[in-house]
Amino acid sequence: MGNKVTVVGAGNVGATCANVLAVRETASEVVLIDIKEGLAEGKILDMYQTATLLDFDTNIVGVTNDYSKTAGSDVVVITSGVPRKPGMTREELIGVNAGIVKSVVENVLKYSPDAIIIMISNPMDTMTYLASKISGLPKNKIFGMGGALDSSRFKCYLSKSLEANSNEIEGMVIGGHGDTTMIPLVSKATYKGIPVSEFADEETLKKVVADTMVGGATLTSLLGTSAWYAPGAAGAYVVEAILKDQKKVIPSCVALDGEYGQKDICIGVPAVIGKNGVEKILEIPLPDEEKELFAKSADAVRKTNDVLKEIDIL
Ligand code: LAC
Repeated sequence: MGNKVTVVGAGNVGATCANVLAVRETASEVVLIDIKEGLAEGKILDMYQTATLLDFDTNIVGVTNDYSKTAGSDVVVITSGVPRKPGMTREELIGVNAGIVKSVVENVLKYSPDAIIIMISNPMDTMTYLASKISGLPKNKIFGMGGALDSSRFKCYLSKSLEANSNEIEGMVIGGHGDTTMIPLVSKATYKGIPVSEFADEETLKKVVADTMVGGATLTSLLGTSAWYAPGAAGAYVVEAILKDQKKVIPSCVALDGEYGQKDICIGVPAVIGKNGVEKILEIPLPDEEKELFAKSADAVRKTNDVLKEIDIL
């Protein structure tokens, strides 16, 4: 305890993230900030009224636009921007969200220059790339949450088709956080340490992969906007790994410098997350097919990154 976390953006994802952090008492202070007058204050007041019901003591604060209240944060989670609507890809949000993310990162760093920053805003890989470039922060201190969420969805779909307890499934999703760019690593997925291919045929596993890849889109069409429980909880999961120095392996969107054959890009790779943020990138051997998918995914992410130059943000 004794840590301060700021969550920027009091929409569904940001508020859920703040709520999970508060209820689990991951940090001693959680600040939720939004540009919309009263939104963060209202959500925090509502959450505060659950403190005696759920028995937590976290100091939670809601603010409108006043970044001075975020000063000295150890970790900052950025969820700002508009969410996608049914039928939209995450990539289509770039024009609006890039400008928002740029000004948020500048404001955050003004008051918390030493914070570790976790990006959630979409398109997540490109927003992480943008934030990393404009902040100049080292790669361990600024990275994106996408792999934690996608891996969690992968494990859920695997557990359903194997009729297994989801907590006994291990699985990772690497690559971009996009409907066509993410790569659920079937070759590395296990049930109680045994490859999942021992329990399910190829066709079943192909369906699990396909369902995982459109996991977010499926929810967007059901809900009319993008999901929040799992994305918010996944953000809180990464924060907890940092504040508790857990050294968990969490696929995260990190700036690569030659790892996995890639440079000048932020994309999902297995990373050890602890008190220094990304403490290590794990370079795991992949079968040729998954290697090829990773290279293709990087090409697609790079194309979206190029838009940042076209719209004069970078
Ligand atoms: C999702 C959004 C948050 O995958 O990217 O649900």
